Amino acid sequence: MLWLSRVMRQLHRDDNMKVTALLIICSSLILGSFGKLQFPEQEKDPKYWNTWAQRTLKNALVLQKLNTNKAKNLILFLGDGMGVPTVTAARILKGQLNGQSGEETQLEMDKFPFVSLAKTYNTNAQVPDSAGTATAYLCGVKANEGTVGVSAAAVRSQCNTPEGNEVTSILRWAKDAGKSVGIVTTTRVNHATPSAAYAHSVDRDWYSDNEMPAEALQSGCKDIARQLFENIPNIDVIMGGGRKYMLPKNTSDVEYPGIAKHSGTRKDGRNLIQEWTDRTKDKKGHYVWNKKQLLSLNPNNVDYLLALFEPGDLIYDLERNTETDPSLTEMVEVAIKILRKNPNGFYLLVEGGRIDHGHHEGKAKQALYEAVEMDRAIGRADLMTSIHDTLTIVTADHSHVFSFGGYTSRGNTIFGLAPMLSDVDQKPFTSILYGNGPGYKLVNGARENVSTIDYQENNYQAQSAVPLSMETHGGEDVAVFAKGPLAHLLHGVHEQNYIPHVMAYAGCIGQNREHCKLNNASAGLRPVLSSVAFLLTVTHFLC
Ligand SMILES: *[C@@H]1O[C@H](CO)[C@@H](O)[C@H](O)[C@H]1NC(C)=O
Ligand SMILES: *[C@@H]1O[C@H](CO)[C@@H](O)[C@H](O)[C@H]1NC(C)=O
Ligand SMILES: *[C@@H]1O[C@H](CO)[C@@H](O)[C@H](O)[C@H]1NC(C)=O
Ligand SMILES: [Zn+2]
Repeated sequence: MLWLSRVMRQLHRDDNMKVTALLIICSSLILGSFGKLQFPEQEKDPKYWNTWAQRTLKNALVLQKLNTNKAKNLILFLGDGMGVPTVTAARILKGQLNGQSGEETQLEMDKFPFVSLAKTYNTNAQVPDSAGTATAYLCGVKANEGTVGVSAAAVRSQCNTPEGNEVTSILRWAKDAGKSVGIVTTTRVNHATPSAAYAHSVDRDWYSDNEMPAEALQSGCKDIARQLFENIPNIDVIMGGGRKYMLPKNTSDVEYPGIAKHSGTRKDGRNLIQEWTDRTKDKKGHYVWNKKQLLSLNPNNVDYLLALFEPGDLIYDLERNTETDPSLTEMVEVAIKILRKNPNGFYLLVEGGRIDHGHHEGKAKQALYEAVEMDRAIGRADLMTSIHDTLTIVTADHSHVFSFGGYTSRGNTIFGLAPMLSDVDQKPFTSILYGNGPGYKLVNGARENVSTIDYQENNYQAQSAVPLSMETHGGEDVAVFAKGPLAHLLHGVHEQNYIPHVMAYAGCIGQNREHCKLNNASAGLRPVLSSVAFLLTVTHFLC
């Protein structure tokens, strides 16, 4: 009955959601009772589709009353590598995990009223990487691949270039405006995505000084872990992995003592965790490294949180130890409880960072379960915030060469086979395939017969057309889902670096605040909005 209480809370909060909520109830009942059929009996009746569409239309008409409030809180959910095919496949998986056929399921992100597309290319790359794109959607400018928090004037790995080329992020703009700020990720906290929020580095791989060339250190470039603690004083919430980059070289890890690859990496001998703990101990600062410690905190007594759950990246959600490691959803819940105490509001970056890793390994099941978990976190954040004062955006940095197809029937398991054999080699094939990657496999000189192996296991690597040890990113646009104040400013095909400009405008932070002096965030838009409303009215009468 969790869904019911959620729906009731929605109803309580927001009248406009009433229709949607009823629709969710109806569809759950209908699909629940017809789960055994290949598709629900109801769908044979045109009335079903017409009613659904008419209710969706009614909701859309309500959206003409644009939400022009000022956004007190700003949340960005970034699914690393979560291209549109991944979103669709994750939707089907989520539905199937709920006993539905899956296609009709609504992800939490599907419920966002505004969706646009972002063009993801880097200044020097048609198919981008996570560092250049993070600089775009966090700092508002496009940049070169492999670089974080520096403009395209900086050249990757050339330490002399960052001087003067730094660009600051929306996290910093928010902090400067008096908001609380947080970073929650399933990767190490000094990985490409989060690092563009606080660091300026010509190389995303400079995790600690151990990973930097000697001449870069001699020229005064700083590693990313160090910048996490030195650039923006007191990021309020930092959660993810990456302990080893904070500890002196060879320091044994607390969770994996004696395992060399998990030991500290820092050559400068600094213990950044200890330094942070010392700095914040009189300011309600808490450091935790496991789930039990995290969940025993009382967020009312925590103003600063540093939580590092693994020496490197967190473990895939499918394989996570649920006793010792928190889920992304659990992390997001604690983060919001701490951040929302600030009457000025907060900026929160949440990264589902390992969707990307699953795909790179050709392990679609790992990638899709990561995406489903991020969607669950989006739902949790929704319950804890209001669309009246919180702008929430969900997007990806880039896509992957992941696809699913093959004329599968309705309700076919998303990890299943296409319903036919290849008409060339007479062998079956999985619906999910990659354009390239480690799943390329020949057996006796021919494509493997997948019916002879378990293609549904967690770490199965789907077949790819070209052998590569790491599957690559994809180059097509990604979706940008938005809800809350001024979400409608994401309305078409945009450059990716437009995103933080919208968020900052809505939140009255950063460079563009003229409109905030007036009564509310919308004031500057009023003339524009009233002409939009006028046009819509005219169209309504003409059509
Ligand atoms: C902001 O201004 C718009 C336009 O006048 C108005 O419709 C809206 O209700 C206002 N919002 C708040 C929170 O005052
Ligand atoms: C760390 O351990 C390695 C291998 O035992 C050793 O060669 C190296 O000198 C140690 N480094 C430090 C800083 O203690
Ligand atoms: C593929 O494997 C299945 C299961 O072992 C077998 O029935 C089928 O004949 C095989 N197909 C080919 C073309 O080898
Ligand atoms: Zn990647």
